[in-house]
Amino acid sequence: MGESQTRSFVLRGDVCYNRSLTEFDARRDAYVVCVDGVSQGVFDELPDRYQGLPVVDCAGRLVVPGLVDLHVHAPQYTFRGIAMDLELLDWLNTYTFPEESKYADLAYADEAYGYFAQDLRASATTRAAIFASLHVPATALLMDKLEATGLKTYVGKVNMDRNSPDSLTDGSAQASLAATCAWLDQVDGAYRNTRPIITPRFTPSCTDALMEGLGALAGERGLPVQSHLSENLTEIAWVGELCPWAACYGETYDRWGLLGGADKGARKGGADKGGATERGTGPGVTERGASKAIMAHCNYSSPEEVELLRARGTYVAHCPQSNANVASGIAPVRRYLDLGMDVGLGTDVAGGASLSMFRGVTDAVMASKLRWRCVDQSLAPLTIQEAFYLATLGGGSFFGRVGSLAAGYDFDALVLDDSGIRSPRQLGVEQRLERFCYLHGEGGRIEHKYVAGNKVF
Ligand code: GUN
Ligand code: FE
Repeated sequence: MGESQTRSFVLRGDVCYNRSLTEFDARRDAYVVCVDGVSQGVFDELPDRYQGLPVVDCAGRLVVPGLVDLHVHAPQYTFRGIAMDLELLDWLNTYTFPEESKYADLAYADEAYGYFAQDLRASATTRAAIFASLHVPATALLMDKLEATGLKTYVGKVNMDRNSPDSLTDGSAQASLAATCAWLDQVDGAYRNTRPIITPRFTPSCTDALMEGLGALAGERGLPVQSHLSENLTEIAWVGELCPWAACYGETYDRWGLLGGADKGARKGGADKGGATERGTGPGVTERGASKAIMAHCNYSSPEEVELLRARGTYVAHCPQSNANVASGIAPVRRYLDLGMDVGLGTDVAGGASLSMFRGVTDAVMASKLRWRCVDQSLAPLTIQEAFYLATLGGGSFFGRVGSLAAGYDFDALVLDDSGIRSPRQLGVEQRLERFCYLHGEGGRIEHKYVAGNKVF
């Protein structure tokens, strides 16, 4: 049987998905049609033209889009759920850097990344943007393992050349760039589902020379970027000392083209093409850089920084559980959404303890309520449907037409068995999804998972 046949079928079940931030569609006993890995839409009655396709009958189950983890650290999976008693910079130095140093040892990486890949495969996540460590052999090994899961991911060899322990540094900007090029030569185009992404850890770990080289590399190779931005107040103050020339933390990336280039007039090619982009014309601005970028957190972005992110079309990866565990703060997600910015959700393991994106959805709702209650009553809390949007379409668009079951989207789907979350009440489809997000660990089960029409399980 050819691939196009295996990737063409009909799923029958109780379907719910976002059409947009504000449009949520929930239907009992409906049909989602997949042809060649692409959704043809959701139907109450199966149209005649699809009658010949095999039907996977999941009546009584929930059918939802796959979830997108826009920010997660694979080498930190080993210490998830412990070591959350420090703030960011101390947490990095005390727990994170020593752990990531261990990935110089391929045997350790093999075991640790094996668990990560297995568990990610079994999770609700269908797509992810992943930080590895700075070690090239271990990063290539992680990519091999992820490719075997059938999930679609971006993976980054992390770059670090300052303020790092001897056990976790590339040594110099030149050495870091050379290692990155060697890694890219090894892995670029080597996989169907696993793609490289340029990954400066964050400004305190990367000299200007390294940032400049990475921006050039992203432009030359047409690669996206991921990093951290304005997560913690002490971090932001430190960046001010390290880069006195920058008006805001965001500029320490933007100067080198590392925030992406959605600046429409400057953009060459489409948002999903990964092509190079000409920068603006400010002093010291490089000519080329990444077409798209993810910045994790943005908890304390100044109005000026927000405007820069908006102008560049930078994706914000909101990581509410991590922000609570490492006591960083709460991102003003509602403000970013009101500005029309692209926002997705990240687990940020091991800042976040849980790999579950369902947990990410409910954490986003809870964080927004606390922010509203304790910080700023002008920003309304997120609804569950809005948080579900962040976990699907919000982050999904970084990968292309991803994150919805509407016609034209890649067929990434989960079939959820919620029969074990028992209640005598008759619940609507929308309520059942909300309950699954909150209670998936108390009787819920992911029965099937599809990525671009391919069955993962
Ligand atoms: N900033 C720089 N590195 C990290 C990291 O590993 N985790 C988090 N949460 N923030 C960071
Ligand atoms: Fe992170």
